Amino acid sequence: MSVRLEDSTVLLTGATGGIGRAIAHALHERGARLVVSGRRVDVLDELARELGERVEVVGADLANRPDLERLGERADIDVLVANAGLPAAGRLQTFSARELDRAIDVNVRAPMQLTLALLPHMLERDAGHLIYVSSLAGKVASSGSSVYSATKFALRGFGYALSEELRGSGVGVTTVFPGFIREAGMFHESGTKLPRGVGTRTPADVAKAVVEGIERNRAEIDVAPLSLSSGAKVFGLSPPMMSRITRLLGGERVSEQLESGQRDKR
Ligand SMILES: NC(=O)c1ccc[n+]([C@@H]2O[C@H](COP(=O)([O-])OP(=O)(O)OC[C@H]3O[C@@H](n4cnc5c(N)ncnc54)[C@H](OP(=O)(O)O)[C@@H]3O)[C@@H](O)[C@H]2O)c1
Repeated sequence: MSVRLEDSTVLLTGATGGIGRAIAHALHERGARLVVSGRRVDVLDELARELGERVEVVGADLANRPDLERLGERADIDVLVANAGLPAAGRLQTFSARELDRAIDVNVRAPMQLTLALLPHMLERDAGHLIYVSSLAGKVASSGSSVYSATKFALRGFGYALSEELRGSGVGVTTVFPGFIREAGMFHESGTKLPRGVGTRTPADVAKAVVEGIERNRAEIDVAPLSLSSGAKVFGLSPPMMSRITRLLGGERVSEQLESGQRDKR
């Protein structure tokens, strides 16, 4: 059974970000009521003004446990879109213990705890959907992404196992795996230049995948050109082979640019 967005209340985390704003617009166009969340309440207020009616703003720092618990107290949420995330780019040794904790708190602990808190209400109603925005870095691990990939692989495992646990209930689960996203968001803002031939997708493409995940109840959706999603499949079969290809294509240079361009977001 899939959820009808026009009758649903959606909690969207990371609504202030490049991808979050696109998801907010797509869900709102489908008639959903939105609870938009992030730390920057001024940006959320602006988004709410842009969208008009059916939008509620809730400021919350997902690394702050009382804020997270307050969000989880919402019994009226039909759909969770766990989109907030930190880029957490760079080699492990460049992280402080605090930065490492924050990456795990925001990227993994928050989606899992929100799910634990919101799921019983969805099950009571026999209807609901859970969306996790992971990354192709949740399928392919490379140098300079040990922390980020750890969090995004975790979301993949969590989402897929949960979709099996909830099979036959009215609650669906979708994990979305964006590749490099242009126009807005953490990759775009980092100013990283990709090697020639490496394709990108847009925030609107990610938003479309979120809507499709909810409406068609698909367990996993890649939002990337075929070359990148095929690379992820090759990594699944042989990580060393894919690592050699990534090195040959200049993957190290991309990692270095991401680390310097995303450091302020740790
Ligand atoms: N852009 C890409 O190329 C790409 C590729 C693959 C996957 N992704 C994933 O897509 C999702 C959205 O990324 P994006 O590109 O839109 O990044 P972004 O523009 O940097 O937005 C990140 C969002 O996460 C929120 N956030 C960060 N720390 C938070 C905290 N402590 N508490 C609450 N919210 C917090 C931010 O809100 P505040 O700053 O207002 O708190 C913001 O809304 C992330 O999960 C990311 O890993 C992105």
